Amino acid sequence: MINWQIYALPETSSTNDAIKEYCNQKGQYVALRAVKQTAGRGRLGRKWQSLDGNLFFSMALEIPLKNLGMLIVCASLSLWQTIKKMQPSASVCLKWPNDVLLNGAKVSGMLLEKGSDEYIIIGIGVNIVQHPDSAEMLYPTTSLAKAGINTTAQDFMMQYLQQFSHNFERMQNGEEALLRQQWTACAKGVGRKISVRQGQTEQIGIFKGIDENAHLLLEKENEICHIRVGDVFYIEKEI
Ligand code: BTN
Repeated sequence: MINWQIYALPETSSTNDAIKEYCNQKGQYVALRAVKQTAGRGRLGRKWQSLDGNLFFSMALEIPLKNLGMLIVCASLSLWQTIKKMQPSASVCLKWPNDVLLNGAKVSGMLLEKGSDEYIIIGIGVNIVQHPDSAEMLYPTTSLAKAGINTTAQDFMMQYLQQFSHNFERMQNGEEALLRQQWTACAKGVGRKISVRQGQTEQIGIFKGIDENAHLLLEKENEICHIRVGDVFYIEKEI
């Protein structure tokens, strides 16, 4: 099992920045949570609304950059599993690249950044008790509380770290393909028509899953494109 060094701060600008101060020994596994986050950031330069009572934390670990894709798979699958363990009947799915949807609305997001040396920083936000107003967001949003899942930021993080450690070990023991398969089984829209937007560009095709780097596989005119970055929009309704 991973031996985590866990820290908590009453307030910080972004846990993805604050955690860098704590990575001062080789081979450490560090997790840092803030009760209040004043300048949370999201993917693609967006802001992350850090509402009171929600979870804002980052993990830092040393892995070769070539394993980044699998780390994304491990980290997002672990979110799905943590929520499912809390409420087995919950309607949870993964939305590429690393969002989690609960009842079709975003409940969690993840921001991966490079720290110093070989450190990768994974910042996770989970809407535990409240969520931003969906009208102001790119996607509808929700919270665990709204779905009747009663937990706290601290409790969720501890359960998540356990789940993540288990999957991380599986990854190191050669279960990469199985983890990817599990990720795909939990993902929304596989086999359906989606639109992937990257700035002003839009690509439409059939979502075929992910490759070893966790890049999205999009089938267009019988060709498979590997997409590294973008926002997914679902065109077809699930049956
Ligand atoms: C996204 O969905 O765009 C990613 C959101 C990531 C938010 C978390 S909250 C903890 C960590 N600190 C940050 O500033 N961002 C991440």
